[in-house]
Amino acid sequence: MAFKQENIRILYKIMQLLEGDPGVALESNISDAMETLMKEMHAEAGAMWLKNRDSGRIYSILSIGETDITGFSIEYGQGLVGAACNSFEPAVIYDTSGDDRFPAGKDEITGIEVKNLLFMPMQLRKEVIGCVEIFNRPENERYSEDDISLIHSFAGLASLLMDEKGYSYAPDVNKKAIMSLRSITKDYPSGLDVIHILKGIDLDIYENELLVILGESGCGKSTLLNIIGGMDSPTGGSISVDGKDFSHPSDKELVDFRRDSIGFIFQAYNLMPNLTALENVQFIAELCKNSGSSKEAIDMVGLSDRANNYPSMMSGGQQQRVSIARAIVKRPRIILADEPTAALDFSTGQEVLELIEKLISEKITTVVMVTHNVEIAKMANRVVRVRDGKISSIRINSWPMHAKDLIW
Ligand SMILES: Nc1ncnc2c1ncn2[C@@H]1O[C@H](COP(=O)(O)OP(=O)(O)O)[C@@H](O)[C@H]1O
Ligand SMILES: [Mg+2]
Repeated sequence: MAFKQENIRILYKIMQLLEGDPGVALESNISDAMETLMKEMHAEAGAMWLKNRDSGRIYSILSIGETDITGFSIEYGQGLVGAACNSFEPAVIYDTSGDDRFPAGKDEITGIEVKNLLFMPMQLRKEVIGCVEIFNRPENERYSEDDISLIHSFAGLASLLMDEKGYSYAPDVNKKAIMSLRSITKDYPSGLDVIHILKGIDLDIYENELLVILGESGCGKSTLLNIIGGMDSPTGGSISVDGKDFSHPSDKELVDFRRDSIGFIFQAYNLMPNLTALENVQFIAELCKNSGSSKEAIDMVGLSDRANNYPSMMSGGQQQRVSIARAIVKRPRIILADEPTAALDFSTGQEVLELIEKLISEKITTVVMVTHNVEIAKMANRVVRVRDGKISSIRINSWPMHAKDLIW
C-alpha cells in the first residue's frame, strides 16, 4: 500500500511507540501508540476490544479519550463491536444521526455521544482477535482509504506484538450462570393488536454479582424482572436455571421456585401491619425450605434494637430494611430489587444500597436490581441497559463504586 507522506510519518512514530521501552508494560506501549494515532487523526475517543475465548465475551481493554470505557464488555457477536470483532473487514459509519443503532444524545454510561466511527478488526494469522475502535473525527475529515490503511497497520502491528509477548486478557471468567434467558419476548394484546414489550432478551445471571438493569421508565425493566422471578411468564423464548430447562415449569415448580430461590425487594414494602419486624421475617422463614435465622437476618440489616417494633412505628427506611431481611432470610439464589430506593429520601436510599452492596461483598447472594438512575448503576458489577424492550448494552464495571460514594 502506498501511504501519503504524512501518514508514513505517523506510522513510523506509531511503530516506535509500539516497540517502546522494553522495560515498560506492553499495554502501556500500545496505549501510547494508540493515543498518538488518535491525536493525529483528530479523533475524540477510541478503544481496543479483545475477544476472550473462555468467557465468550469481548472486553474493552483500552480506552483513549476523556471517558474511560475500559472494563466494559459485551457478549460475542452483540452490537457493532461484536460484529466488528467477527469480521475481517473494517466498518465505517460516517454519520450516526438517523441511524437507530445510535440513540441521540450521550450514552448514559460512557458519557460519549458517538457521531461517526470506525471499527478495524485486529487480525492475527487467520483469526480476528478483537478490534480497534475510533470515533468522532471532525466532520470535514472523512476516513480516506489512506487513513484506513494506517489504522489497519496499527491494528496489525498491535496484534503481532500481543502475540509475540503472549498477551491475553483473562478477566474473572469462571463465574457460574445461575439463570440464562434466551430470546425472551413478552407481548400484550391491545385491542386487535399486540404490543411487544420485550423483544428478544438474551441474558445470563451469574453467581454473586450485582446486576443492574438500567433503563427509562416504560422500557420493560419490571416486566423482565418479573419474568426472572417467575411472577410473570414470557410469551416466547427459553429460560434455564442451573443449566436445566425451566421454560415451561408446572404450577408447583413455579411456586417452589418463587418461594425458595427468589427473594424480592419492592418499592412498596408490603409488610404485615399486625406483625413486628422480627415476626414479619419469621413469617416468611417458616414458609421457605432453605431459610436461615430470622434473628440473624434482622441483625444483618441493622435492626436488632427494633426487632419488636411494628411497621407503623418504623420509618420508611427501616421498613425497607425489614423487607430486605425478609428477602435474606429465605437464603434465595437471587434477590430481585425493583427500584428499591425510589420511595426513599437520599440518605435512607443510600443505606439501603449499602445493604445491597453487603449482600454481594459478603457473598450472601446474587442481586438483580432495576433502576432508571444512571448514578446507582455505578455500583453494579454489570450494567444491562434496556431500551425499548431490547438490551442495548451489557457492560462490566471493573471498579464498581461503593454505595456510600454515590450521589444522585
Ligand atoms: N399487564 C400489562 N398489560 C399491558 N401492558 C403492560 C402490562 N404491564 C406492563 N405493560 C406495559 O409494558 C411497558 C413496560 O412496562 P414495565 O416493564 O413496567 O416498564 P419499566 O419497569 O421499565 O418502567 C409499559 O409500556 C407498560 O405500560
Ligand atoms: Mg418498573
